[in-house]
Amino acid sequence: MEKPAITDKNIHPLIKSRWSPRSFDSRPVEADKLQRIFDAARWAPSSFNEQPWRFMVGIKGDETWDNIYDSLLEWNQQWAKTAPVLVMAIGSTHYAKTHKESDIFKYDVGQSIAYLTIQTMEEGLMMHQMGGFSKKKAIEHFGIPADFMPLTVSALGYQAAPEQLPKEFAELEHKERSRMALDELVFSGRFGQASALAR
Ligand SMILES: Cc1cc2nc3c(=O)[nH]c(=O)nc-3n(C[C@H](O)[C@H](O)[C@H](O)COP(=O)(O)O)c2cc1C
Repeated sequence: MEKPAITDKNIHPLIKSRWSPRSFDSRPVEADKLQRIFDAARWAPSSFNEQPWRFMVGIKGDETWDNIYDSLLEWNQQWAKTAPVLVMAIGSTHYAKTHKESDIFKYDVGQSIAYLTIQTMEEGLMMHQMGGFSKKKAIEHFGIPADFMPLTVSALGYQAAPEQLPKEFAELEHKERSRMALDELVFSGRFGQASALAR
């Protein structure tokens, strides 16, 4: 099932075709694909090149997968149970060199996940990010140090037909995608004033 971005602009095909399905095939993901996906994340830019991202990767059947799954909120557990790979993104809350608190680490981690997402698409896989999980459980399960913060979990794998999902989620797969308009996002002159580019 495809749900391309609804746009008249000629954007990159991987960006146009990306969306967040909830229906994943239990078919395992090849290790070399996962290696390229994490390598792509590694090459994202970051503040002072400190790369404050770390990833716990769970492959279905292993303990890490079970622990990531256990940390998900029940609503997400209902659909993420067939995902062959679960990835928890964890950020370093302090700069490595100065040990000062960082006000930008979440931005950096998000950027590495964006790179990871695009490589995931390139590999013929799909991904669905989640904020709905228990940070407390994640910290306990994985022994995450106090100066690191779990930020998101992503389900990753080959897409399956919506019909394998519980009805409520199958319906969501068919829901139309939407975005704010460019003129609500791209400004010039004063904040809130649409740029002439935003057409
Ligand atoms: C940081 C973040 C947290 C999200 N949390 C959840 C979540 O807990 N559960 C869920 O089903 N979807 C979650 N989503 C998916 C968004 O709902 C989805 O990306 C958004 O509706 C846009 O849809 P699209 O990705 O298909 O374009 C999350 C996405 C992001 C980026």
